[in-house]
Amino acid sequence: MTANHFYQIYTKNMKRAILAAVMCAAAISVSAENIDISTKSTTLLLEAEKGQELKILYYGPKLSSTDRQAVENTAQKLSAYPVYGLNCPAEAALSVTHADGNMTLQLVVDKVSNRSENGGKVVAVELKDKVYPFSVNLCYKTYNDAEIIEIWTEISHSEKQSVELRRFDSGFLPVRRGDVWLSHLYGSWGNESQLVQEPITPGMMVISNRDGVRNSHTSHGEIMLSLDGKPNENFGATIGAALCYSGNYRIEINTHDHEYHEIFAGINPENSAYVLKKGEKFCTPAWAITYSVEGLSGVSRNFHSWGRKYKLANGDVERKILLNSWEGVYFDINQQGMDQMMGDIASMGGELFVMDDGWFGNKYPRKTDNSSLGDWTVDKNKLPGGIEQLLSDAKKHGIKFGIWIEPEMANTTSELFEAHPDWVVKAPNRDLVLGRGGTQVVLDLSNPKVQDFLFSIVDNLMTKYPEIDYIKWDANMSILNHGSQYLTSDNQSHLYIAYHQGFEKVCRRIREKYPKLTIQACASGGGRANWGVLPYFDEFWVSDNTDALQRVYMQWGTSYFFPSIAMASHISAAPNHQTFRTIPLKYRIDVAMSGRLGMEIQPKNMTDEEKNICKNAIAEYKKLRSVIQFGDIYRLVSPYDKLGVASLMYVNPDKNKAVFYWWKTEQFCNQHLPRVKMAGLNPDKVYTIREINRIDNTPLVFEGKKFTGKFLMENGLEIPYEHNVDWHKRTDYSSRVLVLE
Ligand code: GLA
Repeated sequence: MTANHFYQIYTKNMKRAILAAVMCAAAISVSAENIDISTKSTTLLLEAEKGQELKILYYGPKLSSTDRQAVENTAQKLSAYPVYGLNCPAEAALSVTHADGNMTLQLVVDKVSNRSENGGKVVAVELKDKVYPFSVNLCYKTYNDAEIIEIWTEISHSEKQSVELRRFDSGFLPVRRGDVWLSHLYGSWGNESQLVQEPITPGMMVISNRDGVRNSHTSHGEIMLSLDGKPNENFGATIGAALCYSGNYRIEINTHDHEYHEIFAGINPENSAYVLKKGEKFCTPAWAITYSVEGLSGVSRNFHSWGRKYKLANGDVERKILLNSWEGVYFDINQQGMDQMMGDIASMGGELFVMDDGWFGNKYPRKTDNSSLGDWTVDKNKLPGGIEQLLSDAKKHGIKFGIWIEPEMANTTSELFEAHPDWVVKAPNRDLVLGRGGTQVVLDLSNPKVQDFLFSIVDNLMTKYPEIDYIKWDANMSILNHGSQYLTSDNQSHLYIAYHQGFEKVCRRIREKYPKLTIQACASGGGRANWGVLPYFDEFWVSDNTDALQRVYMQWGTSYFFPSIAMASHISAAPNHQTFRTIPLKYRIDVAMSGRLGMEIQPKNMTDEEKNICKNAIAEYKKLRSVIQFGDIYRLVSPYDKLGVASLMYVNPDKNKAVFYWWKTEQFCNQHLPRVKMAGLNPDKVYTIREINRIDNTPLVFEGKKFTGKFLMENGLEIPYEHNVDWHKRTDYSSRVLVLE
């Protein structure tokens, strides 16, 4: 088998050649074998001996055959998927109550099978209980050219009655103790994806979510582990792990009395016990793990490249530059205003206009946030020419048109709620708990009729107006009251899971019919930045907070797991509508340009000079778009290190073009900022430096000059701390975007 053959499965007791032939069969029975799940640079080694517990022997950099043999003979063999019941004090990834009330499991290897699936291959280890007709397929998926291994389980049984699943993690990974540091994201509305880095200490660290609908405002279901001490961006052994799920999750890091940290990840089982019927299969979401010796940025590059190739909707298609109407006009939508905004973004070189909230509702027109969700018909008072007129105006301006919807929600003041009060999430025998605007409710996605309704919202729009190019799909409420009017009384604990199964079903239907439609996952800002939704969405709204300085921090954190092509990042007004900070346009542009560039502003209020600056920036972005959206990220100086500056760069795969960003994060007299060393370049290549979005009266001293990649990576460039502009144009902000080619 060749080095990049992904499933090297071989038996200790059998000759390899024989087994290789055997492995060609779709499913095989084995007596004793080791399973080598390899990506190009990593190895995950399991021991699967029939009738014995599945063991994990190794996860790390790719093993040579000599080392693999050594590992097999010497490694400490740990359970690959610990279950509850016969070693009660230990943490378990799976715990159940069998039909007869027995609360224990004893899973042993039965067989190993191998199948191709969507650009990758899956090794499924079938684990069977020694006594009960209960089985778990533990699945490991790798891809032809990605450094990610996805792990999940498929649980089923044929016991006489239902089995209750009390905990059902997707995967488990032991990580050798030492000086292991955890990097994870935390935040809140308007302050999403804040980076937290801390050493893993004895005890239990839990990262979890219980929102019900969105799952990334506060903590995130993704983590990184720096194995050899304090995290570094560009060197050091680092593990990354992301739970690909849109609902409640729980990540647990347990450090107990032995040599390994135990990492568990899965759906949050709290208030979610699952009653599994005989013959039913319960599939847990994939847990995507990766390993890099190139530090945190290395792990990010692994996630980004896997994401763009295999997960993100249309991950290989450049994103359009858009204007979104929200911060420009809020609910004040009208035909003329939309036309004006479309004309303005077109004149600046933009390619798409998105009409946000406020365009719908007949009986109850949407004037503010307290009505109309669910009634997805045009408000004819605001838009007498309807969507037809908007589309023809967009055409006139030579741009595309997009529209905002919030399909999972209703207001009690809506025709939808009047017709279907039984469609909303509600606790039996209790009053509704209401959300945004004092009237918002969540639709019960466990109900197939509700699923059909959600599909029809998109389908009706797209059937009537096939030119719609973009949908902003919002979700502005949590599940506040636990209860489904659809699920039976003994299945109420399925609500959170059934909601997301229903959501995914709808998304899948939409994608099957409209694969090319651009869809943004918005959820009161960044509530839906996760790899569970991204197979159905092209991008997500990073945050409702568009303040460029705070965005440096939020986008930094977001970039740990998500590629820039998916990070919607908009130039907005000054003072900013969330922080009231006044940030110069240059800085706002330079930050927005490091993600999927857009605008969120009333262009009518901009001066001609400002519009021109944006026009130039948009023209530059178009030239650099492929590097920014498809390039490899190298984060250089973290804003969280509080050195006064933050810096990162994107390098294209051929390493002949790069975009370098430098944002000052604070301003003091006579301060001293570090000189930023670049990364990811070809040391032998000569790069010419060109600054874009320049506001200075004179070019930088290195403008147009040539440097080797080696020099830039060993020394960096001496970037002036301030802009050389006329006295009245001086501000307390400074930023640079440099192109290297
Ligand atoms: C949420 C979104 C915003 C905007 C409003 C509209 O808050 O995050 O971008 O679409 O809803 O009501």
